[in-house]
Amino acid sequence: MLSVKILTACPDMFPGSLKYSIIGNALKQKKWSLDIINLHDYGYDKRKSIDDEPFGGGPGMLIRPDVVEKALLSIDYQSHLNRKLIYLTPTGKILKQSNLAEFSQLNQLIILCGRFEGIDQRAIEVLKFSEISIGDYVLAGGEIAAQVLVEGCIRLLPGVLGHPESLFEESFSSNLLEYPQYTRPQVWKDAQNEDHEVPKILLSGHHERIKQWRTNKSIEKTKLIRPDLLEKEKKE
Ligand code: ADE
Repeated sequence: MLSVKILTACPDMFPGSLKYSIIGNALKQKKWSLDIINLHDYGYDKRKSIDDEPFGGGPGMLIRPDVVEKALLSIDYQSHLNRKLIYLTPTGKILKQSNLAEFSQLNQLIILCGRFEGIDQRAIEVLKFSEISIGDYVLAGGEIAAQVLVEGCIRLLPGVLGHPESLFEESFSSNLLEYPQYTRPQVWKDAQNEDHEVPKILLSGHHERIKQWRTNKSIEKTKLIRPDLLEKEKKE
């Protein structure tokens, strides 16, 4: 079973989105576990402070390495061979679907959420955290990023998705974006009284032709929105 441990200065932000839908059901069914460790429980003074000023000057405060280490040592983490430590930061490697697939095979995932201006670099290096970013933008802290990472990972665990076959078709399982999908009504009349039909090929019952159409649509969409994915495929 995958055990997820989150180190955070904002424990009330959890389980947050992780208690809902298929991810929350899987948690109730003990297909994975979630423990939240409050960094303030390991604060260095009477006020349970966790941050301090950066040496060399500069704006904001940094989380201290001794606080991170104490919080980490409160977890039984040395005995887990199949584990990974992740620090979420906009300066990390960009998270990819292939990383989520890798993390979903682990026994333990320890996630450190940044706040303030960041964390003392020694904590990251000495305690061996991998630095990961969920995208080229800056959030106020790593907590939402942690929920993104965990949700993406848990849906890949066996028995979590109702239709596991959808994993093969979805975006990023190859270097293509998923094709567009349609449902009822077959003809949708919008508020301006205009009719919008579902592509006829999807009603034809020709499985081979539908498959071909979907592949073409995937390529078309990827060329338009994410040409970088096609370039990557050529190189691989
Ligand atoms: N913390 C702040 N911004 C972040 C990002 N883009 N990814 C991960 N953690 C973050």
